Amino acid sequence: MTRLIHVLNGPNLNLLGQRQPEVYGNETLADVERACADLARDLGVETRFLQSNHEGQLVDWIHEARLEAAGIVINPAAYTHTSVAILDALNAFDGPVIEVHISNVHRREPFRHKSYVSRRADAVIAGCGTEGYLLALRRIASLTAAG
Ligand code: DQA
Repeated sequence: MTRLIHVLNGPNLNLLGQRQPEVYGNETLADVERACADLARDLGVETRFLQSNHEGQLVDWIHEARLEAAGIVINPAAYTHTSVAILDALNAFDGPVIEVHISNVHRREPFRHKSYVSRRADAVIAGCGTEGYLLALRRIASLTAAG
């Protein structure tokens, strides 16, 4: 059976391409979804690409991932810096987790330097633009490969 990877996106990422393009670039989330699906095909994995502006919805998707997914790539967006609930949900997930940030959060405001999710993440990619999702997908594919 094809390995399923959940690619989860937090609040305001639906506005990618329109919102602060000087920080987040001009690509839309649909462009990122397409690029992930193309790479997933090459890697022999399947992606479920989801976005929500609601913390509880992201928690619910992480719970679903417990039952179905081999790994999680997550850009929790602003919830990175605030959400114990998302951290707790990820702590209940057994597979690899990679945290992605489009921007280099460490070069930005001090409140973005703290990540609850990083306490659980197996890897963190920040500042690679939307290519960070593809790097994360490659890593998750190798971490979840059989044998
Ligand atoms: C972000 C960085 C967060 O600090 C911010 O709240 C976001 C996006 C990023 O991808 O660079 O919404 O996660």
